[in-house]
Amino acid sequence: MSTQAQTKQHVMNTYARKPITLVEGKGAIVFDDQGKRYVDFSSGIGVNALGYCDPDWSAAVAKQSQLLQHTSNLYYTQPMAQVAQILCQRTNYSKAFFGNSGAEANEGAIKLARKYSFDRYGKEANRYKILTLVDSFHGRTITTLAATGQDVFHQSFDPFTEGFDYVEVNNLEALKAKMDASVCAVMIEFVQGEGGIHLLNPDYVEALFELCATQDVLVIADEVQTGIGRTGTLLASEHYHVQPDITTLAKGLGGGLPIGAILCTEKLANVFQPGDHATTFGGNPVVCAGAKVVLEKLNDALLEAVQQKEKVIRQQLTNLPSVKKIDGIGLMLGIQLTDKKATDVIDQCLEQGLIVLSAKEKIRLLPPLTITDTELNEGLAILAKVLMSQPKE
Ligand SMILES: Cc1ncc(COP(=O)(O)O)c(C=O)c1O
Repeated sequence: MSTQAQTKQHVMNTYARKPITLVEGKGAIVFDDQGKRYVDFSSGIGVNALGYCDPDWSAAVAKQSQLLQHTSNLYYTQPMAQVAQILCQRTNYSKAFFGNSGAEANEGAIKLARKYSFDRYGKEANRYKILTLVDSFHGRTITTLAATGQDVFHQSFDPFTEGFDYVEVNNLEALKAKMDASVCAVMIEFVQGEGGIHLLNPDYVEALFELCATQDVLVIADEVQTGIGRTGTLLASEHYHVQPDITTLAKGLGGGLPIGAILCTEKLANVFQPGDHATTFGGNPVVCAGAKVVLEKLNDALLEAVQQKEKVIRQQLTNLPSVKKIDGIGLMLGIQLTDKKATDVIDQCLEQGLIVLSAKEKIRLLPPLTITDTELNEGLAILAKVLMSQPKE
């Protein structure tokens, strides 16, 4: 039985998969089981920060898997401690907690914010509400779906976790109107990814942080997609010169293995105590050995290269007739189209050997941060050709 038939027969039908079976990759190039070669501008949705099978990453993961693959969080392990130290030193955060995914990191961040508020103001203050933004995406668990400001995700799974409300992006008055005494945190993405590559305005972010600070309302930044160099800085918050109370990470941090992280400032460093939060696989040594390589490779030169590659993409695509506008920052870009549908462009690119994504009606590009100029130019040539092609009758 073919892999695709096997999958259809035995795996739940939750993804609209493309009809290709990927078997092997190197850098930004991946091959399917027919030997067809693709340039990958998706990085497994922003996960393979170092591309496919970076030799140092693969070696570190292989080595750790032969030394100690898992213990439990009842004991100390070296890779987790090292990754926590690097993250805290490079971000100015005090402490990290490790889980396995973006949704799980956000769940933990929500628990942390509520516990801070309950410890400080008492449960009877009912200070539990989290405000999130319209068009946000925070995950697929019941609570992170509740946090997600898109009704399309709220249809079939009621009842959701209580205590969430939504405010329009970049609308300070809307935020002020909902900042009542029940609010303990505001949760934001600096660049909404799944919601369609929308950037928060710097003025709005500045005012939001000021407003939250005056009421001791925590700011949670969901950097699951924007973090770990994706926007050309280690964290997207650096573009805005702000430090959220809590930042969540996932995707790129593991370089291809499942990890999520919650980072918090000193103010929150002791809110969680033994028993408050846990996860069996969190901080797994093999995963953290990979994450350590990702962080070590993500130096200033690589971050600068990400910014340069954004310029190359913009230069090559901006003036094409099918391109209305390119949104986003770094290697997290959303192309608004004039006369084409994103789904058609994605399928035509795939036919021609290029993997791209969509975000709502835009074409979304999330290439590996380490993509070479040759790989980038090859992929952009295919994308430009597809964008310039006449629609099929
Ligand atoms: C901003 C953001 N938050 C949370 C998530 C959920 O992450 P995960 O799929 O690892 O649970 C995603 C996934 O796309 C995301 O983009």
